[in-house]
Amino acid sequence: MIRLKNEKQINGIRTSCKMLSAMYRELIPLVKPGIQTIEIDQWVQTWIKKSGGVPVFLGYCMKKKPYPAAICISINDEVIHGIPSKRRIREGDLVSLDCGIDLGGFISDQAVSIEAGKVSDEIKKINRITNECLYKGIEAVKAGDRLLQISRAVEKHARSNGYGIVEEFCGHGVGFELHEDPHVPNYPHGANPKLNNGMVFAIEPMINMGTGAVEILDDEWTVVTADEKISAHWEHTVAVFNGKTEVLTEPLEDLVFVN
Ligand code: MF3
Ligand code: CO
Repeated sequence: MIRLKNEKQINGIRTSCKMLSAMYRELIPLVKPGIQTIEIDQWVQTWIKKSGGVPVFLGYCMKKKPYPAAICISINDEVIHGIPSKRRIREGDLVSLDCGIDLGGFISDQAVSIEAGKVSDEIKKINRITNECLYKGIEAVKAGDRLLQISRAVEKHARSNGYGIVEEFCGHGVGFELHEDPHVPNYPHGANPKLNNGMVFAIEPMINMGTGAVEILDDEWTVVTADEKISAHWEHTVAVFNGKTEVLTEPLEDLVFVN
């Protein structure tokens, strides 16, 4: 589990997170109907390398097959870990982007769901509610309080809107490695450590229009909803430092929720 020891370390992670959000600010306007997801990945790899970072997802091993891209692009019923391909974004798609940067050993992680062109009202709704779930979770982060408060806040908002919560994947400690303790589930479950100064973690609600059940495709990575209904995903990297909650990755809502 990450425990920041000094100001220099938090500054390292702050800078990595700012860089990742700056990348998204340039990327989001490019994610339009017609673009191939592999083109997005190539753009991301180039951007991160020219900025002096390392794309942490590229070659990352969670299971046997290393992840083959710098960004996860998960469309509609794809929940997370969608692999960039020749597939083109289409009008009406909900496109979830998830990316991380290693900048000088400090790791950031952020995800955003983008509406391609005109989308249905039900997509607009799940995207806004999932975004709100993220901020409800962040509001529950209080130094000295317990971690599962986050999970309760996310769960309550999702369930009160009739949505399913993905249980098999969750947020996580981050900062020196992409995935560290603790697990940050989107429903109260498992360990419930105190939120101490120096902790850095990713909160990432994955919310489904139907049930929370998911399956993994034959590519060994892409997680899809079992009922083929839409899923949305938003994520910030957050720290508890000097008794305060700091959201280290930056807001992108002004680019996403344009209508
Ligand atoms: N951002 C994802 C997460 O939070 C990680 C993607 S897995 C990778 O779990 F292999 F693509 F890196
Ligand atoms: Co994450």
